[in-house]
Amino acid sequence: MSDVYHVRAAVPADVSGIAALVNGYAAQAVMLPRSAESIALALDDFVVAADSHGRVVACGALKQYSPSLGEVASVAVSPEAHGRGVGRAIVAAVERLARIRGVEEVFALTLTPTFFEAVGYGVDDRARYPEKLQRDCAACARRAACKEVCVSRTLAAAAIDAAA
Ligand SMILES: CC(C)(COP(=O)(O)OP(=O)(O)OC[C@H]1O[C@@H](n2cnc3c(N)ncnc32)[C@H](O)[C@@H]1OP(=O)(O)O)[C@@H](O)C(=O)NCCC(=O)NCCS
Repeated sequence: MSDVYHVRAAVPADVSGIAALVNGYAAQAVMLPRSAESIALALDDFVVAADSHGRVVACGALKQYSPSLGEVASVAVSPEAHGRGVGRAIVAAVERLARIRGVEEVFALTLTPTFFEAVGYGVDDRARYPEKLQRDCAACARRAACKEVCVSRTLAAAAIDAAA
């Protein structure tokens, strides 16, 4: 398999690859499942990393809650591509998309907070994001025993950091 991965906006041909990646991890209870239909409907919000054959090896998505607030969602990297900076590149690509859309703050709910901390996020209080609690958490079967940790990043500050 090629070591060269290309991070880009998702296209319709990527839908099945994204679904396979996300639902493979969902089967291990590491992520929430997504149907191919829901991915196709939200395709403009997805970025992918593809190998030299065009095969999807990683994905991530921006889920927008308001003009200024978004969630970094569905971040997944195929096991054979782990540890090469692909996850970091996917989060950066979702953040670029967020900035283009005027989003100033992003958060994630994750079982892997140390990954997000390694790419610039800080642990946060999920109560700061009532939009998420209302839209997704209230209907989640696992809400009483949720092990996900909330992390967040202010994109304006990140831009200042990058320029410093
Ligand atoms: C977590 C995941 C996205 C990491 O992808 P990756 O491509 O291997 O990560 P990267 O190589 O870009 O690593 C970036 C940084 O995160 C750290 N990191 C990577 N995976 C980590 C993990 N599982 N736990 C803690 N830190 C991790 C790396 O050490 C690296 O830090 P450094 O630059 O300071 O050395 C990937 O393991 C995955 O898809 N896991 C299953 C799904 C999942 O847990 N998604 C997370 C969000 S819900």
